[in-house]
Amino acid sequence: MEKPVMVDVRDVTMEFNMSSYKVDSLKEYFIRLMKHELFFKSFLALDGVSFQVRKGDVLGLIGLNGSGKSTMLKIISGIMKPTKGSATAYGTISPLIELGAGFDADLTARENIYLNGSILGYSRQFMDSVFDEIVDFSELHNFLDIPIKNFSSGMQARLGFAIATVVKPDILIVDEVLAVGDFKFQEKCEKRIRELMSNETTVIIVSHSIEQIESLCNKVLWLNKGKVVKYGDALAICDEYKNA
Ligand SMILES: Nc1ncnc2c1ncn2[C@@H]1O[C@H](COP(=O)(O)OP(=O)(O)OP(=O)(O)O)[C@@H](O)[C@H]1O
Ligand SMILES: [Mg+2]
Repeated sequence: MEKPVMVDVRDVTMEFNMSSYKVDSLKEYFIRLMKHELFFKSFLALDGVSFQVRKGDVLGLIGLNGSGKSTMLKIISGIMKPTKGSATAYGTISPLIELGAGFDADLTARENIYLNGSILGYSRQFMDSVFDEIVDFSELHNFLDIPIKNFSSGMQARLGFAIATVVKPDILIVDEVLAVGDFKFQEKCEKRIRELMSNETTVIIVSHSIEQIESLCNKVLWLNKGKVVKYGDALAICDEYKNA
């Protein structure tokens, strides 16, 4: 029997407007606007994308820079609304989209754990109960009272991943952030993703490391210039992608 659908993406189009002039000031902007000299080129970051992710699937999004991967993750997480179409997620989502998202750079790591937790909707008591686990996983015991702005990108990624995965979300979304971690931490993250998978968490991950996609994912969505090139079995599509 087929597993239930956890993410249902239907005919999603995302249009961004790009001004065709480089306008240097607000004044110039209004002058050009008045003179009808300002034209906007519309640009499709995603163009009619449809696919479904089922419970327990680990989906890898692949494609060249600018192909629309991060935009797709933001739409699934509800951070952006598509211009057309719909993306529905069934269940709780932990999105790990941008480095430092959900953190306040001036606050310490300790404070940011609570801040990020409240953004994800967890109570203070709950965060108290998982605090040690987050610190252990991120291995940042000695840096808890230092402002995040003094953290390296790898340290921020450790903290973000530790918080995002301390609860078992129905859907875990990870955009590229693992790439900044060292190989030991990447191994640790892969191990945790596998644990979540065995508990039937659905995972959607973006990575430029095809090896990582091949080792973690069962499904792959290949995007090019906002369009779906292929969707299906991970190994077969990775092979094609490498030879493209
Ligand atoms: N807020 C925005 N406003 C205008 N254009 C945007 C915006 N966000 C993304 N874009 C454009 O949409 C396209 C797709 O961007 P996206 O970040 O989704 O690509 P990506 O596949 O994640 O690329 P990368 O591999 O470099 O991370 C790019 O051309 C980008 O410039
Ligand atoms: Mg991206």
